Amino acid sequence: MRKKLEDKIDFEVKGMQEINTFPLINGFHFPLIGQIILVTTLNRQQIPNVAPKSWVSILARQPAIVGFSCNVAHDTAKNILTTGEFVINIPGAELAEKVWKASELKGQDAGEIQKVGLTPLKSVKLTTPRIAECKAHLECSLDWTKKYRDEIIIFGKVLLASIDKKALEGTPEERYKYLKLITYLEDGTYGVIKTAMKVDQS
Ligand SMILES: Cc1cc2nc3c(=O)[nH]c(=O)nc-3n(C[C@H](O)[C@H](O)[C@H](O)COP(=O)(O)O)c2cc1C
Repeated sequence: MRKKLEDKIDFEVKGMQEINTFPLINGFHFPLIGQIILVTTLNRQQIPNVAPKSWVSILARQPAIVGFSCNVAHDTAKNILTTGEFVINIPGAELAEKVWKASELKGQDAGEIQKVGLTPLKSVKLTTPRIAECKAHLECSLDWTKKYRDEIIIFGKVLLASIDKKALEGTPEERYKYLKLITYLEDGTYGVIKTAMKVDQS
């Protein structure tokens, strides 16, 4: 028997409201979610900065391109436009509190990564550090940008990928259980990927 299709409500979209950088349309949170990442950058004086972002994706394979959206006024955007490089660090659910703490730190103080309770880890290809507690990292050079009013989409060419050994061991279920990837749902709320299931392709 066919399942009854639910009633739909349609909204004309002219733009999204600027609340918590989340797609809020006519007062409701649209359920298109993005993975939470921590972006590390350096300013002109080589001082490291860390900030969470969630409008992010892998965008091309050859070359390997990743992109994310950032407010133009944020230090992350300013630093990347200055230095031409950044690191995408992948946190697990155990770092959620620190992720939010990182979003609250403003300014260009030295030791921002440590203030959040995280540890800078030397990168392989870049001067910008990775974050030791994150389970995977993409070291990127700035490739292209596209600006829409207050936001800038930053495209980076991936120069090096690193990942914890444990995230490569075992079944997909075991690997994702280790990674505990997180997504931004709405203000102060995140989701955790706790299982990996296989579709039956027989
Ligand atoms: C979970 C989470 C996800 C976020 N995602 C984004 C995002 O995708 N784009 C953005 O511009 N800001 C995002 N923010 C807000 C920034 O992290 C925040 O404004 C931060 O202070 C910017 O720091 P910066 O000036 O050092 O770049 C997010 C915040 C949180 C807590």
